[in-house]
Amino acid sequence: MITEKSAMVSVTNLTKSFGTVVAVNDISFEVKPGEIFGLLGPNGAGKTTTIKQILGLLEQEQGEIKVFGLDPNKDDIEIKRNIGYVSEDPLIYKSMTPRMLFNFIASIRGLDESETTKKLQYYFESLEAVEYYDKLVATLSRGNKQKMQVIAALIHDPLLLIMDEPLTGLDAKSAKVVKEVLELHKERGGSVIFSTHILEVAEEMCDRIAIMDRGKIIAMGTIDELSKMADKVGADLEDIFLKLTNQDESVNHIVTNLRKMMNSKKQS
Ligand SMILES: Nc1ncnc2c1ncn2[C@@H]1O[C@H](COP(=O)(O)OP(=O)(O)OP(=O)(O)O)[C@@H](O)[C@H]1O
Ligand SMILES: [Mg+2]
Repeated sequence: MITEKSAMVSVTNLTKSFGTVVAVNDISFEVKPGEIFGLLGPNGAGKTTTIKQILGLLEQEQGEIKVFGLDPNKDDIEIKRNIGYVSEDPLIYKSMTPRMLFNFIASIRGLDESETTKKLQYYFESLEAVEYYDKLVATLSRGNKQKMQVIAALIHDPLLLIMDEPLTGLDAKSAKVVKEVLELHKERGGSVIFSTHILEVAEEMCDRIAIMDRGKIIAMGTIDELSKMADKVGADLEDIFLKLTNQDESVNHIVTNLRKMMNSKKQS
């Protein structure tokens, strides 16, 4: 049974390899009720692999994962019932319309029909997607497909939202709506784990952030804590992130070379 005291997610010494690539290397963290937890890191850092492990989408190799204090090997159904997931890949149900997709989701999740219809109407209107309700998913734009994924993750009011780059492709207004939904979810005691490359979003939304690099969590904490670790108190998250991932000097070097190249072109 899910109790209020349980951490929403607890990951201990998790490791996952693909052949010789150690995608996730001995990481541990906990996400509490009412917390928005961000996963940041360069491409290939291991964020998606971590997320897929928590969801049980990848076979576990080493370490322990508990979701709502439950063991995914034993209580998979109870866990899945209480999670909403947005994957980093665009929606796969390309030959369905959103109407078919949401009917399908409502039936497998056993959702109340009239309540679900009301929620769908609300989300479709808020995200300005009503006109796509009967269009094939395959014909939707990248951002509109993403909206369907987000609505599908929210429709059963899960306790935990796990979102892999949820704002990808969304226009400014829709991104704002989704951010507000996540805040409201948090206010109601739910939790969110999300990965993002948009540092302003992480800075604005996350209570705590884990910075991953080459499979490891190299720093974790609030923005204040991270800025102290990076010796950059008062700096924005971009500077903190680049310093902690040792990319700051390399970026300076690239910018200097770009300047030289572009200035020499101007003169010639
Ligand atoms: N199915 C797979 N088979 C082989 N290698 C994989 C597989 N999935 C991920 N990897 C490797 O694991 C490492 C971590 O990948 P992952 O997708 O978790 O990174 P990420 O942090 O989500 O990156 P991005 O920011 O680009 O989404 C990478 O080196 C990647 O190439
Ligand atoms: Mg990823």
